[in-house]
Formats: sequence, C-alpha cells, structure tokens
Amino acid sequence: MKMFQRFYCRVYQGAIRLAMHFMDFHEPERYEGKGAMGQIPAILRKKGYRHPLIVADPAMTKLHLIDPLLSALKKEGFSYSVYDGVVPNPTFDVVLAAKEKAQLDNCDSLIAIGGGSAMDTAKAAGALLANPKASPASLGGILKVHRRYHCLIAIPTTAGTGSEVTVAAVIVNPKTHEKFSINDPKLIPHVAVLDNSLLEGLPSKVISSTGMDALTHAVEAYIGGIRTTKTKAYAIKAVQLIHGSLYRFYSDPHDDEARGNMQLAAYLAGVAFTRSYVGYAHAIAHSLGGQYNVPHGLANAIILPHVLRAYGKSDEKRLAKLSEAIHLTKRSASKEEKAKAFISWIDEMNESMQIPATFDHLIKKEDIPMLSKRAAHEGNPLYPVPKEMDAGELAKLYAEIDPQ
Ligand SMILES: [Fe+2]
Repeated sequence: MKMFQRFYCRVYQGAIRLAMHFMDFHEPERYEGKGAMGQIPAILRKKGYRHPLIVADPAMTKLHLIDPLLSALKKEGFSYSVYDGVVPNPTFDVVLAAKEKAQLDNCDSLIAIGGGSAMDTAKAAGALLANPKASPASLGGILKVHRRYHCLIAIPTTAGTGSEVTVAAVIVNPKTHEKFSINDPKLIPHVAVLDNSLLEGLPSKVISSTGMDALTHAVEAYIGGIRTTKTKAYAIKAVQLIHGSLYRFYSDPHDDEARGNMQLAAYLAGVAFTRSYVGYAHAIAHSLGGQYNVPHGLANAIILPHVLRAYGKSDEKRLAKLSEAIHLTKRSASKEEKAKAFISWIDEMNESMQIPATFDHLIKKEDIPMLSKRAAHEGNPLYPVPKEMDAGELAKLYAEIDPQ
C-alpha cells in the first residue's frame, strides 16, 4: 500500500478511536447457564412486553428446538408470533419479511434464537421497525441507525458469532451478492441469554467453524490498533477459554462445562471485536461468504493463519502475548518463536477438527480482482490492522488460500 494511503488509514482509525469514547457500547443484560431460556417470560414481563416475534431459521421450528421457549411463553400467558424464514447469509428480503411479520402481528418485542444469521436478521429488522423510512441498503455502514429498537433478546444456539453482543448485522444484497454490515451500537441486543443446553446436539462441523470464528474475533481484536483495557482482557480470556474448551466441546458435545466455556468465549470475543474491530481475515471471509456462500466460521478458520503470517513482524509482539496467555512455549522463547507457535497452534486446531489448510478450487481465478477489491473496500480504512494491504496485496492472499 502506498504511503499516503497508509497515512489516511491511520488518521481515519485515530478519529474512530477518539469517537469510540463517546459511543454507548453497553453490554446486554446477560443470563447464563443450563435452562436460562426459561427466564424469558419473566424478562419480558419485567420490561412490560406481551407479544414477541420469535426470529429463527426453518430448522429451529422443524426440529422443535424453539418448542421449550414457546411452551414457557404459553405457560406464562404470553402470546407470540414466529418468523422462521431466516437463511444463512440473510438477504434484504429476509430482513424485510421479518419486519413485516412483526408489523402485521403487532409484535412489541423481538426474540432472536439461532446462530448469527437469526440474530443479524432480528437486529436489522429491529432497526427498520424503529426507523420506518429507512431501507436495508440505507442502513449499511457506520452509525446510520438513528433510533434504537426498544427490546431485542438474543439467544445464541451456536458458540461463535458473538452476534448477541455486537453492534453489527451482516446482510447480503441479493443483486450484487455483496455482504455488507450495518454497524451501530443501537443494534446491540438488550438481553443475551446464554443457555448452554441449546448447544447440545450441535453438529461437530458447526462447533469447529463457529468456535474458530470466535477465535478469529478475539485474535483480530487483540492485534488491532483500537483496543481498550477491557477488550484486551476479554480477548485474552476468550483465547484461553477456546484453547481449553473448543477441542473438548468438538470431541464431546455433551461436555456441559466445555459448552458453557465456549458460549462465554464467543460472548467475550464478541465484546472485544465489536469495540476493537476485526481485520483482513474477516474482510476476505465476508467476500467469500457473499460470493460463494462459504460458512463464515469455516472461511475465517482457513484464512486466519494465512493473514497472520502475511502481517509478518507487525503482529509479532501481540501474537507473542496471546501465545504466552496459553503457555505455548517456554517463557524464555523469543517473541518471534512465540508468535510462530501461536499461528502453528491455529493450524493444529484446524487440522484436529478436519478443517483444511486451504480452499479446494472454490475461488475462481477471474473473481480474484473483484473479491480483493471488496475486501480492501471493507477493510480500508476502517479495520485497524497491524499492516495495511491494498487490493493488489490482498489478491496475493486469495491466490495463497486457494492454490488450485
Ligand atoms: Fe466473525
């Protein structure tokens, strides 16, 4: 990247760092533990709401996974509506359909239950309900949501996206296949319910990819240039929990403690990255998700070690700190050795969970210029990465992650 472009990125990030001090990054009220979902009627009653719209994907209703929530609401005399049209990488149409269902049924609150897609859909639908003149496209970018929706409860059923605590809703423009983010602290849910019993029975592929997504959040937040004491501490704690529990959860989904640890890790990493941003692993993963529908966590898992290596010396010191936090090397090892050990540990985690080191003929060569431009457009100047790269430099990474 040219020097003046790099200078522009740094000035822009400096301004964001300053502006962050004036933004309301509230954390949601957090309810944790096995069966925590049973507290939802009491939460709604306390807040004075009577008819939530439950936003989920079709599998949640088909497999009766939302039944305990519906029974709890029914038992306590609540009425409710269900929108179960959420799809992976939700599009404008999905968000608009959820919003219209809430309006049609006079719903007074939103409950998102599911993975990142359900929560992103509900966050975007809430933003549209609170800002009736806005369209999904008009909300894309930073701080475009004028009014906050009044009650959104998020119940994650995977441990990774951290969407229950983040300022972002990622949606896809169906015309261009481009993913874009609505980023505004007004999207942070009011309540996060971390009920680890909902994660029982998750397929191992989902456990591995969502867990690696959480790791990518923690690592990219920690090595970036916009950090606070809290986000550093949360990112380190998340890495430690993932180091201790992701493989355990992957190999035994019935391990209550590992499930709970991964839910907490995803939440903490979510708080960290929503304040401290992510980096090029996410920018590249979003471009691949939009173009080829690659699951977000899987894309991040494959891309992360390549991006960290491409940063070279610029992320060495901070990766060494993460390496120390999980005791990967002797204390006397050099920063370079510690950083290398950390990246190797990510490779090993991937390998142990059958995640390949590269994609296999996924990326069409002729798409690389367009994809790298999209990633550069997403990452620059916003993401406070250790080393800025322009579209040309990112194109080399696309070739590396799918050598063909
Ligand atoms: Fe992510």
